[in-house]
Amino acid sequence: MKAQQFNITAEILESFKNIVGKDQFFVDDESLTQYAHDETETLSFKPHVVLKPGSAGEISEILKICNEFHIPVTPRGAGTGLSGGALPHLGGVVISTEKLNKILDIDERNLQVTTEPGVITEVLQSTVAEKGLFYPPDPASKGSCFIGGNISENSGGPRAVKYGVVKDYVLNLEVVLPTGEIIWTGANVLKNATGYNITQLIVGSEGTLGIVTKIVLRLIPLPKYDLLILAPFASLEKACEAVSAIFRAGYTPSALELMEIDALKIVSNMVDSHSVPVNDDIEAHLLIEVDGNDTEVLFKEMEQIAAVLEQYEAGELLFAEDAQQKEELWKLRRKVAEYVKMVGYTIEEDAVVPRAELPRLIKGLKALGRQYAFDVVAYGHAGDGNLHIRIKKESVADSYQNPEMDKIIRELFLLVKDLGGTISGEHGIGLIQKGFMDIVFEERQLQIMRDIKKVFDPHGILNRGKIFD
Ligand code: LAC
Ligand code: ZN
Repeated sequence: MKAQQFNITAEILESFKNIVGKDQFFVDDESLTQYAHDETETLSFKPHVVLKPGSAGEISEILKICNEFHIPVTPRGAGTGLSGGALPHLGGVVISTEKLNKILDIDERNLQVTTEPGVITEVLQSTVAEKGLFYPPDPASKGSCFIGGNISENSGGPRAVKYGVVKDYVLNLEVVLPTGEIIWTGANVLKNATGYNITQLIVGSEGTLGIVTKIVLRLIPLPKYDLLILAPFASLEKACEAVSAIFRAGYTPSALELMEIDALKIVSNMVDSHSVPVNDDIEAHLLIEVDGNDTEVLFKEMEQIAAVLEQYEAGELLFAEDAQQKEELWKLRRKVAEYVKMVGYTIEEDAVVPRAELPRLIKGLKALGRQYAFDVVAYGHAGDGNLHIRIKKESVADSYQNPEMDKIIRELFLLVKDLGGTISGEHGIGLIQKGFMDIVFEERQLQIMRDIKKVFDPHGILNRGKIFD
């Protein structure tokens, strides 16, 4: 891609400072370094300036200036992304949504919530839960990620298997366009067949089409009970076979997660947890949750799921006895991404295949690991056929613009495509996966995406070079 020329003059910086106020304007090295990275591998690119606007109006004024002077803008939520969506790889302006952090309205009559984008997802969930309401999408990083970032990436998480992903809950969005206009995309209704679905186009657009400033989500009644078990398997492939068998037997767990034993060992060590016996006969675990309003029904369901697991040679099931044990098991699962990275598994893929193809994905993945001499640990949302694949390769920390990793990842993604899958289930394409879009799309489809981008953003200022060049 040709680097775009831009010049952020002292006068432009002064205008930014006047818009957001001097306390929300940052050009000091410490701030620029802090906003240079998200959670993507070990990549880091310093912006020229970080702005923390307090309203859609301020964002609009900033974008009008950037649009006029062709200055690249990188929108940023909490910076927990794993595909580089929030990396300011061209420099320019970072707009952080962290000051837009209010839940504006909980509509208990209609089961909806209106929120600003800088609210932490778990805070939103617990606030609506106090009113008996449920917002299900729960990325592993729910304790730190922002709901706005979840909208941008169309995030999922463990409960997606029963309840769907972010897109299934978004009714309406207030968006500041790159040209500065502020629009609402839809209406606060459960059905909407009124023209093109701009709301859903913004969801998952990774901050390339606009900056979301208000979000209307539908909610559902909060289920009263859940049960959680951990099932060990001597064979990783058998664990993967059991996944689709559970659904075929007629059950939809509210979570069905896979953890390869190496992932569990690393996390158990890091959090000094002994709640799960880790022995050498085990290759993987499935973490299975069911939820609902009738405990008797849930126990029966879990018993029947256990019978299916037995057919696939599961070992002794660990049943979480109380809230504390459940929390501990979930912590082990949710911390995987963070901790395996700390021990050198820096490169992460987010492949998704039809769930019955999981065993073939795992088999192919292990074969690739042997062929190209990399260590690999797989974990994630097995119920969705969505595996997070963490790679550790001698002296390679990042995959971006690394020819050796490109070759390996390309082979992996070709396998994923062969199995009927695609290259990202929930982390997005961002900066680091865009070079692989040709595997799953032909030129005509990519051209449609570029054309859409141009309609929203004629000068290509907003998150330029993300998703595609
Ligand atoms: C997880 C994140 C990385 O599932 O998506 O752990
Ligand atoms: Zn995940």
